[in-house]
Amino acid sequence: MTKALIVTASGGKPQVTDVVLPPVGPGEVRVRVRAAGVCHSDLSMVNGTLSPSYPLVLGHEAAGVVVEVGPDAPTGSEAGPARADRRLAVGDHVVLNWAPPCRECWHCTHGEPWLCAEGGRPSAPRGRLASGEPTHVTLGLGALAEEVVVPSHAVVPVPAELPADVAALLGCAVLTATGAVNRTAAVRSGQSVVVIGLGGVGLATLIAARAAGADAVIGVDLSEAKRDLALAAGATHFVLSEDTMPKTVRGLTGGRGADHAIECAGRATTINAAWRATRRGGQVTVVGMGARDDLVSLSALDIFHSARTLRSSVYGSSDPDRDLPTLAAAVHDGSLDLSPLITDRIPLEEAPDAFTRMSRGEGARSVVLF
Ligand code: APR
Ligand code: ZN
Repeated sequence: MTKALIVTASGGKPQVTDVVLPPVGPGEVRVRVRAAGVCHSDLSMVNGTLSPSYPLVLGHEAAGVVVEVGPDAPTGSEAGPARADRRLAVGDHVVLNWAPPCRECWHCTHGEPWLCAEGGRPSAPRGRLASGEPTHVTLGLGALAEEVVVPSHAVVPVPAELPADVAALLGCAVLTATGAVNRTAAVRSGQSVVVIGLGGVGLATLIAARAAGADAVIGVDLSEAKRDLALAAGATHFVLSEDTMPKTVRGLTGGRGADHAIECAGRATTINAAWRATRRGGQVTVVGMGARDDLVSLSALDIFHSARTLRSSVYGSSDPDRDLPTLAAAVHDGSLDLSPLITDRIPLEEAPDAFTRMSRGEGARSVVLF
């Protein structure tokens, strides 16, 4: 039995309950979770923005310690995930990866592991409730739980000295944000960047933009309460998300608009605002995961005339196996300070309140400590 945060139906309230984990099979590990963040994608699985299968164990941004490594795979499957077992041992500190690449599909073999054909597929149920009903797990992890059983290629070893709360955030918000800035958008020193939507992902994006040497770093949110958080994360300006926001941003960027807009709210209206806040020839990078039926409307003439680029950034266009250890090293040497991101450290029992706070747009990351 392990305690886990589950939701039983779309629109339901998250609740802590006992879950029975499956035995650890070949190519799998059992991880004792030390810390797990509450991310907006978890909220989207609760409030109906996304349509996963239920009952669902929430959570996909976490760090922990390997407590069991699965038995050897039957011979003949050397090339499969069981390969990874050899690099893992009980006691290893790890960050969970919600998009483990298969390393064999077209995208994986063409340098785009974040678009792996295996990723994003609804996974088979894993574990069950005390009643016997099978449980599904968020993004293949279900990490708002004391323990998880996951494929061994879904964990990335990190140094044991890394604080667990920070390590957890590396696994989603920080990898996504730093990758969006440095890989997808490729922000250069001296450029201007506007970041729309200042939750954990947007604030991490401000930190990454500043670290990339951006000159003007403009944070935008609906809530005035995000101003201080934005400035603490390195924003040079904060602008309220109103109809006039693109005009205000143009005023702050020589009348042209920002070189880059990075959208971290996951809405058509904010993608549209990002477009209008960007200069001719500029780039809009969509990080937020919106709803299927939320349509963006852009003028065909403006698309041509403005010569802007619109891209999305899935998991920061990153390779977690390569990039998580680099981020861990940057935290360790002090060059990446993630402390402004964590506004609440809570026990699992208080996680439902963190979902309420997030749906009101309050705070930055809440991190559950186990
Ligand atoms: N204009 C500006 N900001 C907005 C708007 C808007 N119209 N609507 C919402 N926001 C702000 C909220 O006030 C909040 O501060 O966006 C922020 C979203 O923050 P969180 O809910 O904490 O979300 P986060 O976990 O950071 O994720 C952001 O990235 O990974 C995806 O699915 C995730 O789409 C989500 C996005
Ligand atoms: Zn996430």
